[in-house]
Amino acid sequence: MSLFNEMLGAGESLFKQEDALDPEYLPKLLPYRELQQKQIASAIKPLFSDRNGRNLFVFGSPGIGKTAAARWVLRDLEETTDEVLQLFINCWQKNSTYKIMLEICSLLDYKFTQNKNTDELFNVIKNMVNKKSAVFVFDEIDKVEDLDFLYAILNDIEKKTVVLITNYKNWIASLEDRIKSRLLPETLEFKSYTKEETKEILKQRIGFAFVPGVWAQDAFELVASRAGEIHDVRAGLFLLRQAGLAAEEAGQKRIALSHAQKSIEKLSTYETEKTPDLESDEKLVLELVKSNSGKKIGELFELYTKQGGTGTYKTFQRRIEKLEKGGMITSSRTFGGKEGNTTVITYQQPKLTEF
Ligand SMILES: Nc1ncnc2c1ncn2[C@@H]1O[C@H](COP(=O)(O)OP(=O)(O)OP(=O)(O)O)[C@@H](O)[C@H]1O
Ligand SMILES: [Mg+2]
Repeated sequence: MSLFNEMLGAGESLFKQEDALDPEYLPKLLPYRELQQKQIASAIKPLFSDRNGRNLFVFGSPGIGKTAAARWVLRDLEETTDEVLQLFINCWQKNSTYKIMLEICSLLDYKFTQNKNTDELFNVIKNMVNKKSAVFVFDEIDKVEDLDFLYAILNDIEKKTVVLITNYKNWIASLEDRIKSRLLPETLEFKSYTKEETKEILKQRIGFAFVPGVWAQDAFELVASRAGEIHDVRAGLFLLRQAGLAAEEAGQKRIALSHAQKSIEKLSTYETEKTPDLESDEKLVLELVKSNSGKKIGELFELYTKQGGTGTYKTFQRRIEKLEKGGMITSSRTFGGKEGNTTVITYQQPKLTEF
């Protein structure tokens, strides 16, 4: 066989539909998440018969289908009825009550938002939504700076289901009582996929994204087992794409083991880039937050001192601020409650957001 037959021709591609590897791509089927989708749907179902819906608190580690499952149910809802509004908000992008109100207005197609303050925007929303009913999904809820929007929705929207999604099981504990008592959510945990499940999901995605038959079996096995080890489908999609690109770059018609290996190198460079060299004191603080995610800053400072940290409280706060700027942790204020306002610190799993 001629060497050239194995080479990719100009204009040829190994990808049939590369965007099927985007983390936002919503596949037609979401295997292994049927029960979770059902639970979300059944919390919404009462809205169909003009009753109030139930609320949900969804948690689980990164890259395991929480966002996908919620969006899938909303898409299904959209195809089923016009009477229930679907309002999906990513709180990483919209992290304050004002921004969230603006976003909801935009989702409701309401354009006259200029010169309106938060209260006025909420009045508009209230009037529009209370004519129907609505599902509010607040994804990455732990990223919000304040929770006034949530209180307003719980208090003043008559028929709704509120779904809150986060990586942190403990986040809910930081809520003040007046919100907790109105939310009273069901809890829905997303457990990590097994290795076999991860593999099957990636295999299905290959069917959408690549030209049939371009993956060598050993290359796929390597990618699938690496993704299975870190229990993260998003990382798996990253590996599939990088391996495909590596093969294309080499002008090859097949994705071989060496291309899969290259993709894995890229993943580890990415992961270490997310944890830049920290001074040892900062490392101590980061480790503390990692193993005590969700604790109050005062409690963390006590642990820090016990474990040999020598900085003052001010120094400790500065370390926390720096780690937060670096995206390695997040802090969120809790308001009111028995002990007054306090800051809760949560560890931020390195995210693969760049692809
Ligand atoms: N069961 C599944 N079937 C098909 N694709 C899936 C499945 N689970 C997850 N995925 C895909 O994996 C990627 C990551 O999933 P998703 O964005 O829902 O993760 P997540 O749990 O919301 O993570 P994070 O906490 O980091 O936001 C998406 O592209 C999603 O489509
Ligand atoms: Mg998500």
